[in-house]
Amino acid sequence: MSFTVAIDGPAAAGKGTISRAVAQHFGFAHLDTGLLYRAVGRRMLHGEDPVEAAGRLQAADLEGDDLRGPDVARAASKVAVIPEVRAALVDFQRAFATRAGGAVLDGRDIGTVICPDARVKLFVTASAEVRAERRLAELKGRGLDTDFETVLADVRERDARDSERAEAPMVAAADAVVLDTSDLSIEAAVARAIATVEEAR
Ligand code: CDP
Repeated sequence: MSFTVAIDGPAAAGKGTISRAVAQHFGFAHLDTGLLYRAVGRRMLHGEDPVEAAGRLQAADLEGDDLRGPDVARAASKVAVIPEVRAALVDFQRAFATRAGGAVLDGRDIGTVICPDARVKLFVTASAEVRAERRLAELKGRGLDTDFETVLADVRERDARDSERAEAPMVAAADAVVLDTSDLSIEAAVARAIATVEEAR
């Protein structure tokens, strides 16, 4: 039987960590849908047409350290406004969501567009400053040379592009549980997410 958990929210709010922890706790599969858009963005940076690239994605596209970097993130949010790019990625995400044994998908439009019937919807958020701090620590941990102001500007630019686009804008579904992690440790945020899924089971 399928059981879908949709986890949406802005950059660096903790979606990834929470999604991985929920998937591990319940033995569900996990798909970070941001990687699909990042893969298309990276192909665009290499000169490919993004719509064609979205139709040609392969497993190898989801590999490589640069996929998690800020340049690819910016490119991802640019290709993500193109309706044909989004359309090309829908079937793969829906098939993943309905696989037997349960699935967690995290992104921007999982609870609203990809899986409106998901059994659990979480919208994970935090203030832009807190998210920039977290992303800065993550980037520095990976050896990237950057600073708080640059990362904050990046987060704000991407938030604006993601929430103002016409197609599948980033917004909490009406029936989503909103989890603001600004003042929560990651352990506390994970515990709340797991409790929410447990209640729905
Ligand atoms: O990890 P982070 O939250 O910084 O970004 P991500 O989840 O990897 O997503 C990168 C970009 O892909 C976002 O800024 C969105 O523009 C886009 N995206 C989207 O439009 N829809 C999704 N379901 C996932 C990502």
